[in-house]
Amino acid sequence: MGVQRTLSIVKPDAVSKNVIGEIYSRFEKAGLRIVAAKMLRLSREQAEGFYAEHKGRPFFPALVDFMTSGPVTVQVLEGEGAVLQNRELMGATNPKEAAAGTIRADFAESIDANAVHGSDSEESAAREIAFFFSTSELCERV
Ligand code: TYD
Ligand code: MG
Repeated sequence: MGVQRTLSIVKPDAVSKNVIGEIYSRFEKAGLRIVAAKMLRLSREQAEGFYAEHKGRPFFPALVDFMTSGPVTVQVLEGEGAVLQNRELMGATNPKEAAAGTIRADFAESIDANAVHGSDSEESAAREIAFFFSTSELCERV
């Protein structure tokens, strides 16, 4: 699989709960390195563009409302098999189905406010990283 990069978001519910550091700690303890990070409040245009694949689904308007409801942190994680590793750390989309010890099991309340985002493939990761970061903002951590 090799070293990959993946895009992670700490969503507004988790920022509001003040658990950014606890979530970053999960990444670091798993051996993932943060190679870019920033905090911002998404505009509706940004949220709609980021989640364009879900446009037209019934939960889409609520998803955009939620993602624009407060600040988020966006970060690029790097490491061996980073895409799948981050998805495993996150747990299932619905926190009620998320395995014990995962970020969503521990910090999320519901499927619509589920604490974190993570790219679902290397292709998504490339698109999502470019959505938020320019090449010069991605740091070498070797
Ligand atoms: P999705 O890409 O399917 O999940 P994941 O975040 O695990 O990759 O969906 C994107 C987000 O949309 C999800 O994190 C929360 C929201 N969502 C709902 O609110 N209800 C739903 O039924 C689904 C499938 C997603
Ligand atoms: Mg997804």
